[in-house]
Amino acid sequence: MPELTVVVPTFNEAGNLAAVVAEVEQALAGVDWELLFVDDDSPDGTADRARAMAQRDRRVRCLQRIGRRGLASACIEGMLASSAPYVAVMDGDLQHDPALLPAMLDTLRGGGTDIVIGSRHVAGGGLGDFSSQRQGISRLATRLSRAVLKADLSDPMSGFFMLTRPALMDCLRHGVSAIGYKILVDLFASAPRPLRFAELPYTFRARQAGHSKLDSKVVWDYLMLLADKLVGRFVPVRFLAFSAVGGLGVGVHLAVLGLAFRGLGMGFVAAQALATLVAMGFNYVLNNSLTYRDRRRRGWRFFTGWLSFVLACSVGAFANVGIAAYLFDRQTFWLLSALSGVLVGAVWNYAVTSVYTWRT
Ligand code: GDD
Ligand code: MN
Repeated sequence: MPELTVVVPTFNEAGNLAAVVAEVEQALAGVDWELLFVDDDSPDGTADRARAMAQRDRRVRCLQRIGRRGLASACIEGMLASSAPYVAVMDGDLQHDPALLPAMLDTLRGGGTDIVIGSRHVAGGGLGDFSSQRQGISRLATRLSRAVLKADLSDPMSGFFMLTRPALMDCLRHGVSAIGYKILVDLFASAPRPLRFAELPYTFRARQAGHSKLDSKVVWDYLMLLADKLVGRFVPVRFLAFSAVGGLGVGVHLAVLGLAFRGLGMGFVAAQALATLVAMGFNYVLNNSLTYRDRRRRGWRFFTGWLSFVLACSVGAFANVGIAAYLFDRQTFWLLSALSGVLVGAVWNYAVTSVYTWRT
């Protein structure tokens, strides 16, 4: 029975697996450990390679998820698939130094600590050759995290940490968001009581093989995580995102309508129909790549998803107009009638597309 599970989330890391296992094996000599790769069906065959290694070495395991993406949710599912009293999370590209693992484990074994974090911002730690642009973004993200964190962490953006099972279960039971990249922020913000933490220095190393999955949409995911921590108890953040996209869609609708009707002299009904179709397409694409980034539809499924989205939203539009007309007929103020229709339509569209278009 392993004392420590090292959870390693991977997406297209086939070229790094062997080195990760070798470095962990070397660092944890004398410890009863296992290493669990959690792979989101990487096209480069990471999972197949991980399973091949697992066939040769019982300490290596592979958990493959299909049809889903997300670093935080991968880490959570990996941690839940462990039976060890101590669980660590470490990137699969060797940017986190496995040599820190024994000191982390010793700290937890000593008792009195819930979680040990590898930090680049305590004495002895460093950023390596982190670009100045990413340093700036990381500083800003760290400052924003203060709104939800219940602890003064030097490096809340770190994805390198080890915690005890009771602390882990406490955090998970109190509703982690599992959104995006920053699992450590999520754990600390979800903890029902302040976590007793320790920080150990490490230097962020250069990526071994492959390339980073961090892109501009990670910023969006991070804002969604913060929003979920702040207001998620009252309203689902996906609904907020869906509504924000819908608001932008209204702008697109009006722009297309203006162009077709006023600019090109198209008939009003035809222009309105065109604007509706374009706005629905716009909303679909944006929701698919932002609101439902973790369940994104691609290829043929992108097309069928669009059909179901248009169908659902058409029914929503009828409901919208019906409710508004009903209220207006009964002497409700016109603006209130219209907004009631919009709200009912939006809730309908959100509810139906979350089940049919972006089902899990
Ligand atoms: N399963 C899964 N699913 N793994 C993923 C996904 C995903 O959707 N996206 C990324 N990963 C894996 C990568 O394969 C890698 O092992 C690890 O998560 C980190 O991803 P990188 O793409 O290498 O991220 P990074 O180095 O730019 O970002 C890192 O920034 C922090 C420092 O600010 C984070 O991942 C942190 O862990 C790190 O400490
Ligand atoms: Mn990396």
